[in-house]
Amino acid sequence: MRILITGGSGYIGSHTTLQLIAAGHEVVIADNFSRSKPSVIDRLETLSDAAIKHHAIDLTDREATDRLFAQETFDAVVHFAGLKAVGESVAMPVEYYSNNLGSTLSLLTAMRAHGVRKLVFSSSATVYGEHAPVPMRESFPTSANNPYGWTKVMQEQILRDVAAADPEMRIALLRYFNPVGAHQSGMIGEDPQGVPNNLMPLLAQVAVGRRDHLRLYGQDYPTPDGTARRDYLHVEDLAAGHVAALDKLGETAEPVSTWNLGTGTPTSVRELVAAFAEASGREIRTVDAPRRPGDIADSYADPARAETELGWVAARTIHDMCADTWRWQSQNPDGFPDA
Ligand code: UD1
Repeated sequence: MRILITGGSGYIGSHTTLQLIAAGHEVVIADNFSRSKPSVIDRLETLSDAAIKHHAIDLTDREATDRLFAQETFDAVVHFAGLKAVGESVAMPVEYYSNNLGSTLSLLTAMRAHGVRKLVFSSSATVYGEHAPVPMRESFPTSANNPYGWTKVMQEQILRDVAAADPEMRIALLRYFNPVGAHQSGMIGEDPQGVPNNLMPLLAQVAVGRRDHLRLYGQDYPTPDGTARRDYLHVEDLAAGHVAALDKLGETAEPVSTWNLGTGTPTSVRELVAAFAEASGREIRTVDAPRRPGDIADSYADPARAETELGWVAARTIHDMCADTWRWQSQNPDGFPDA
């Protein structure tokens, strides 16, 4: 297939781009490079040994998005582009709703105008909200407690409505748990701009000496060691989930399919710190801090549906996730080059 990858130079988009190329697809990237660097594309070209077509456009620009669909032919879209920092979304709700909803609406408008009917969407386990029991199942109700989370809930709803209006649409809502790790080469990985919000990039920056210590947010959660637990999965397993979902959209009769992508196994903050120290051979200094507002004690997937319907499992271990993150971080202490 010829596939448009929005946000293809971002963390998950870049890893998925390589796997789609390896699976024999032709890819075109659209990215506004607001949270990523164009040098990612150079790395992707080196790793895939192929020229990668890319368009520096902002998807909220409806005319530019329509022009893209007029210039190129696509069989499917994998839509990663979006803002994803919870704290920033609380401070800048209008920007979050405008960007995340605006880009999806613009994309759907162009898809309809140009007859593109397959879409894989980057959703998040955040749509299970604050009170969901674990393991989390796709059938659970959705909710959110911050603007970022609401943009995911709302985009899912928009996509369900669009599929209901056009029975030929085939849409996959992929609910990611906590993606971590990096490509085995160490050439691409997560490169947050500014201060990272997520645990793994913070851990990696402490290990490499960019920060002094890691704050442990909350030590009194009702978990075995008192720190919160998450379902970390390797970004390469996650990328493989997109390839499997796209294949499945070619054969399913369901207009909308929702799949959790996670391992089903929780890991605590302390366990991840210990695993990272072991994989990197570096000491990780931690400092106890209060709970982070909005955090939940436990979040992990029931990944059975993805296994049964897609034949997909996230098999890489916590050690693989830490070792691969460390290879990326130690080879690129300051992330991707500017030029
Ligand atoms: C966070 C978001 C989630 C979003 C996801 C991907 C919140 C409340 N949730 O998920 O909506 O989809 O990122 O961007 O922000 N931790 C520390 N010290 C740190 C950083 C994190 O102890 O310096 C702990 C957190 O309290 C949490 C765990 O590490 O228990 C994982 O945190 P993080 O990587 O931010 O992921 P989520 O909170 O699961």
